[in-house]
Amino acid sequence: MAKMEVKTSLLDDMIGVGDMVLLEPLNEDSFINNLKKRFDHNEVYTYIGSVVISINPYRSLPIYTPEKVEEYRNRNFYELSPHIFALSDEAYRSLRDQDKDQCILITGESGAGKTEASKLVMSYVAAVCGKGAEVNQVKEQLLQSNPVLEAFGNAKTVRNDNSSRFGKYMDIEFDFKGDPLGGVISNYLLEKSRVVKQPRGERNFHIFYQILSGASEEFLCKLKLERDFSRYNYLGLDSATVNGVDDASNFRTVRNAMQIVGFMDHETQSIFEVVAAVLKLGNIEFKPESRANGLDESKIKDKNEVKEICELTGIDQSVLERAFSFRTVEAKQEKVSTTLNVAQAYYARDALAKNLYSRLFSWLVTRINESIKAQTKVRKKVMGVLDIYGFEIFEDNSFEQFIINYCNEKLQQIFIELTLKEEQEEYIREGIEWTHIEYFNNAIICDLIENNQTGILAMLDEECLRPGTVTDDTFLEKLNQVCATHQHFESRMSKCSRFLNDTSLPHSCFRIQHYAGKVMYQVEGFVDKNNDLLYRDLSQAMWKANHSLIKALFPEGNPAKINLKRPPTAGSQFKASVATLMKNLQTKNPNYIRCIKPNDKKAAHIFNEALVCHQIRYLGLLENVRVRRAGYAFRQPYEPCLERYKMLCKQTWPHWRGPARAGVEVLFNELGIPEEEFSFGRSKIFIRNPRTLFKLEDLRKQRLEDLATLIEKIYRGWKCRTHFLLMKKCQIVIASWFRRYSQQKKYQKIKSSAITVQSYIRGWKARKLLRELKHLKRCNEAATVIAAYWHGTQARRELKRLKEEARRKHAVAVIWAYWLGLKVRREYRKFFRANAGRKIYEFTLQRLMQKYFLEMKNKMPSLSPIDKNWPARPYLFLDSTHKELKRIFHLWRCKKYRDQFTDQQKLIYEEKLEASELFKDKKALYPASVGQPFQGAYLEISENPKYKKLKDAVDEKIIIAEVVNKINRANGKAASRIFLLTKNNVLLADQKSGTIKSEVPLGDVTKVSMSSQNDGFFAVHLKEGSEAASKGDFLLSSDHLIEMATKLYRTTLSQTKQKLNIEISDEFLVQFKQDKVCVKFIQGSQKNGNIPTCKRKNNRLLEVAVP
Ligand SMILES: Nc1ncnc2c1ncn2[C@@H]1O[C@H](COP(=O)(O)OP(=O)(O)OP(=O)(O)O)[C@@H](O)[C@H]1O
Ligand SMILES: [Mg+2]
Repeated sequence: MAKMEVKTSLLDDMIGVGDMVLLEPLNEDSFINNLKKRFDHNEVYTYIGSVVISINPYRSLPIYTPEKVEEYRNRNFYELSPHIFALSDEAYRSLRDQDKDQCILITGESGAGKTEASKLVMSYVAAVCGKGAEVNQVKEQLLQSNPVLEAFGNAKTVRNDNSSRFGKYMDIEFDFKGDPLGGVISNYLLEKSRVVKQPRGERNFHIFYQILSGASEEFLCKLKLERDFSRYNYLGLDSATVNGVDDASNFRTVRNAMQIVGFMDHETQSIFEVVAAVLKLGNIEFKPESRANGLDESKIKDKNEVKEICELTGIDQSVLERAFSFRTVEAKQEKVSTTLNVAQAYYARDALAKNLYSRLFSWLVTRINESIKAQTKVRKKVMGVLDIYGFEIFEDNSFEQFIINYCNEKLQQIFIELTLKEEQEEYIREGIEWTHIEYFNNAIICDLIENNQTGILAMLDEECLRPGTVTDDTFLEKLNQVCATHQHFESRMSKCSRFLNDTSLPHSCFRIQHYAGKVMYQVEGFVDKNNDLLYRDLSQAMWKANHSLIKALFPEGNPAKINLKRPPTAGSQFKASVATLMKNLQTKNPNYIRCIKPNDKKAAHIFNEALVCHQIRYLGLLENVRVRRAGYAFRQPYEPCLERYKMLCKQTWPHWRGPARAGVEVLFNELGIPEEEFSFGRSKIFIRNPRTLFKLEDLRKQRLEDLATLIEKIYRGWKCRTHFLLMKKCQIVIASWFRRYSQQKKYQKIKSSAITVQSYIRGWKARKLLRELKHLKRCNEAATVIAAYWHGTQARRELKRLKEEARRKHAVAVIWAYWLGLKVRREYRKFFRANAGRKIYEFTLQRLMQKYFLEMKNKMPSLSPIDKNWPARPYLFLDSTHKELKRIFHLWRCKKYRDQFTDQQKLIYEEKLEASELFKDKKALYPASVGQPFQGAYLEISENPKYKKLKDAVDEKIIIAEVVNKINRANGKAASRIFLLTKNNVLLADQKSGTIKSEVPLGDVTKVSMSSQNDGFFAVHLKEGSEAASKGDFLLSSDHLIEMATKLYRTTLSQTKQKLNIEISDEFLVQFKQDKVCVKFIQGSQKNGNIPTCKRKNNRLLEVAVP
């Protein structure tokens, strides 16, 4: 398995030493050798404690890849080999986690790699901080502000092809989570003199070349520009193109960046119009013209250029032309106009170009700030990145170099203040034993420049404001007087005779011994540049421009806001802004990147030891290491230290009750940190070696992980326990329910068993009781029976005795009565013989009749006419009366019954009565017909569509419609026919087709014959000679013979008023055509079932066998 290599310290695979603090022995040579060794191995970064030394590699190294970013992300500063990312990470984490505002101070001379370093820091922070659409947009805008500002503010110099010609300090603002919110850029003094003149081998600002190379023909035409650089006086020709720089593609990058930052199209257009105007201004040339009054006057040679500028910027041409020829001076209420000579006209032109460009640059910064400013008002954490022009020494150094070097001087000062001096002072303050380290403090140089009374800037201002003739020479004279004795000021003309013979120092120059070396400044132009004057006529001309951007750039041109007060000088403005910057930096936690330039040739792989040695010296890096080594790598007040590490010791964790210092002591003792590794100051703990700190940090990290595990453990325990308790509770509930259920079941089982047992016992007991009771009852019954028998015997004996006695008494009474009667009859025979017997008889009869009727009243049968009950006759002599009474009662209840009938019922009963009269006791079929209601129309002729034809043929009311069998006279076989009886006719029709076969008027029917037996045969005899009779009589059979015969009889009677003759006989004659045939009914066998059969025996006889 491949071994995974994990770097845990910068000591791993170290080339030379990564941290100069570890260098042994420590001297200039070993220092440079170490740097060179590392540089040769592509290690361009080296630490001095927390300061990063960066050597410009002048070639791209593969150490800024996203993988590298990930490698350095969230790692300790000393964990990996030195890198600018390590410093950026440290600063960012300290800002995010400890809420400390940071500043990253990047210093070094021109071309040392400051701007590149600042971009690396920004891109690292952008890569590691929060993500998300909004945050990404902020990041992108912050990053894209760089190409825009570089295009307008950077230029090629002899030292650096992309030299920053302005100072830039950028505050990146973060929210509490460490996500970027926005930023603020401050710019410091643009080197505007470059716009009109560039030293040999240098270029104007990049944007001019970019616009001419990169813009489309069309765009150039719009801006009235030509692509040829040589057309423009302001563009130095000797190095118009730079090796490895593609101006055209950079132009596209800039335009794209402007779009991302948020410039509107019309704004971009205006910006380029101003740039074009500046470029074209350089082409305006003047020629002298003498005036009559003897004054020199200048005249514009070729007005075409002015015309184009005016068209581009919307300025009135005459106004501009006038501004180049006259100068108006206003003092109090007076206005004096003087003409400008050619030199003054050129001065005015250049002043206008410089001002236009520098104001455009400041406007750009303001506009970018507007875009990138944080949108929220929440408290912000700030990381400032300072990338200022580096210390520079040119052949000709002017006011700009003086200002730039002053700024660097101040930065060195703050570095000294914060690292060397402050550190040493702190040791003293804290009472830590300390041996003083000598180092050069450049405060004295700063004082030479910025002292309010005797400083060079103060004197320059004084000269500028002084009335009378003021020139650069008078300024130098003044310097020579005031600064003559200053150690770091050198001048040929100074009172001090030290430099009288120094030929290297021209008369018009002064020299300052800067911390980074001696620089000779040409005094020429100092006064002018400090004054930074623009003739009011020009600013007013600009304000009048019909171009919103130009108008906005020259607010003082507005005549309404005329201000006679002098504007502050360039020097004092710069001094003030540098002071503000220093104050700002002091409130933040500084992080240093000290850039070193390895050679003057801008070439890779060349390490010029002398050049590097010079830089190391003036940067005071060796002193830096010494202080670092003599002192302590890390210090912290006791409280935060204890707060940070208290978890590492049992006594201090979680709370330390005593003073913080004691706590830290206990903590360090407990951890077994060797005593020489730390010291206790008054308010701070000092840790000598960074490794001790890392050890602490590692322990803390480990401990935090343990604590996190502990918290997690306790939380998990708590969670599991709550879960367990819940489960337990649930289990108890479930168990109780289950127990209850099972107990219930058990109880029910026991209960049912108990009930069974109980019922058995009860049953047994009951049976036992019953047996006993039965026994008792039997005993009782037996006793009762015995008693009854006995009583019966007694009673019968008594009855017998009583009966005997009564018989005797009755006998006595009868005998007595007879005897008395005899005696009475003997005595009264003579009086009663005639009437007495009769009277007694009548009376007795009367009594009996009375009793009879009263009894009958109570015994009356029901009122149903069919009720046959009648009480028995009580006395024989009432026999006839009793029968008569029964008859009368029956008639009476029949009448009552009849009275209830409706007319229809009456008709039915009349028919039934008729039938009864006709057939009762005559025809055996009759009794069966009594219970059958007479329906008449058995076939529903009118409803059944089959009989429609038949119905149409018969238009009278149909009384009978029934299927009958017509007996064939030839063989006695039956054929179905529909038999219809209407009011006037008898009809026979075919059953299938419904066609009428025969129709006989009722008057032609003479007789109906039938047997007395239980059959349905009948013959209809027709009147001889009638039309119907020609075919002969009909012999038919029907299931409803009684009804048909009855209805035929009744209809005939009502229609013809003659009674139809109905003959009931078992033998009758039927007329078939000419023959008379005898129909004879005989007793048939049972073999044909219950159906009568008809057979032709011979010509004269038709035999019907009736079962
Ligand atoms: N880390 C680096 N890797 C590769 N090349 C670099 C690096 N740093 C600087 N350079 C090269 O050095 C050149 C000069 O660097 P830079 O512009 O950052 O210098 P500076 O210190 O800002 O100078 P000035 O003070 O003039 O602005 C860059 O254009 C680039 O070519
Ligand atoms: Mg730079």
